[in-house]
Amino acid sequence: MAGRTYRIAVLPGDGIGQEVTPQGVRVLEAVAGQEGLTLRLEPGLVGGTAHEKTGDSLPDETTRLCRASDAVLFGSVGGPVLDALPRDRRRGLLELRRQMGLFANLRPSIAWPPLAAASPIRPEVLQGADILFVRELAAGLYYGPSGHETRDGVERAWDTMLYTAPDVERVARVAFRLAQGRRRRLTSIDKANVLESSRLWRRAVTRVGTEFPEVTLEHLIVDNASLQLIRTPARFDVVVSENTFGDILSDELGALAGSLGMLPSASLAGSGPGLFEPVHGSAPDIAGQGIANPLGAILSAALLLEHGLGLPAAAARVQRAVGAVLAAGWRTADLAGAGGTVIGTARMGDLVVEALADTR
Ligand code: NAI
Ligand code: MG
Repeated sequence: MAGRTYRIAVLPGDGIGQEVTPQGVRVLEAVAGQEGLTLRLEPGLVGGTAHEKTGDSLPDETTRLCRASDAVLFGSVGGPVLDALPRDRRRGLLELRRQMGLFANLRPSIAWPPLAAASPIRPEVLQGADILFVRELAAGLYYGPSGHETRDGVERAWDTMLYTAPDVERVARVAFRLAQGRRRRLTSIDKANVLESSRLWRRAVTRVGTEFPEVTLEHLIVDNASLQLIRTPARFDVVVSENTFGDILSDELGALAGSLGMLPSASLAGSGPGLFEPVHGSAPDIAGQGIANPLGAILSAALLLEHGLGLPAAAARVQRAVGAVLAAGWRTADLAGAGGTVIGTARMGDLVVEALADTR
């Protein structure tokens, strides 16, 4: 794709988002230099930072910038400025996700061998675990009809796990395609023994599966899945689930990587740009100290290369560079439990950029 200019919107946001996102940017620039890619990186405001500068936590200009880009590199939002705003003025990530039509949330969880000691899971169970969790992001329990009322003096509230067959089919198709490019196993998680919406989920996933005969599909009930994922993580490849189930289970899988600071994510739309961000939040407890782990942001930049720009070889080089830096014993403070030498955010970025030079 020589000659093409890739437009990347860069939204550092709040707290450590301001510290880790520039490291992701440096890595993108280094890869671009090596691969002869032309990147146009365009900064945008979001979160408390945006509110302070513009009076709006999600300025229209930012939304426009994101929608006109090829991909969005996002940091994190949250903290004292946003918390002080009334609820209806706290616009941010949820609104941006909606406007960009993002519906598939990819959360890779990898057991990095040098970090095994930082994981609560025994090394022999952890070994070889490499799971790509696909969470449905735009429907289900978090978006169905909900309400709250007091009737006959009794307070009640409800949320509804509502799915249409097309909602399920589109996320299933993403998951099957991803499995096709990996170890060709897909596990679909539901609660079909109890929930009507899960029975629809299971039928729709099974139907889409007939388009992908080379991928082995299995169904797991969510409570059993929560046990199996942590008991035998290495047997899973791609996993797909409903929004709420995925929210919970993908956090559980964070235990594989040893630290929240290691986890990247991608949120994809049907067409149009995706959004790539570390799983962690703005971490006000350590913000401004230069000690945050930038690897979640750097690995999000790798997901951006792979799924946002369609450059899997470039993404694989970033992954290898991160692996090399960890193997050499470099750690940020959150990874100190794995042994090695503790360094700060920017130094970790330097080392990944240096290691990239050796990944041709
Ligand atoms: P958090 O992820 O910001 O922090 C949880 C704990 O993990 C903290 O002790 C923090 O210091 C540590 N941590 C997180 N990222 C780290 C990194 N890269 N390196 C080293 N340590 C790291 O979650 P928390 O505390 O629940 O939320 C803080 C703020 O972030 C809240 O305002 C919340 O709403 C927001 N948030 C934003 C998200 C986003 O922008 N996508 C996601 C999650 C939370
Ligand atoms: Mg969560």
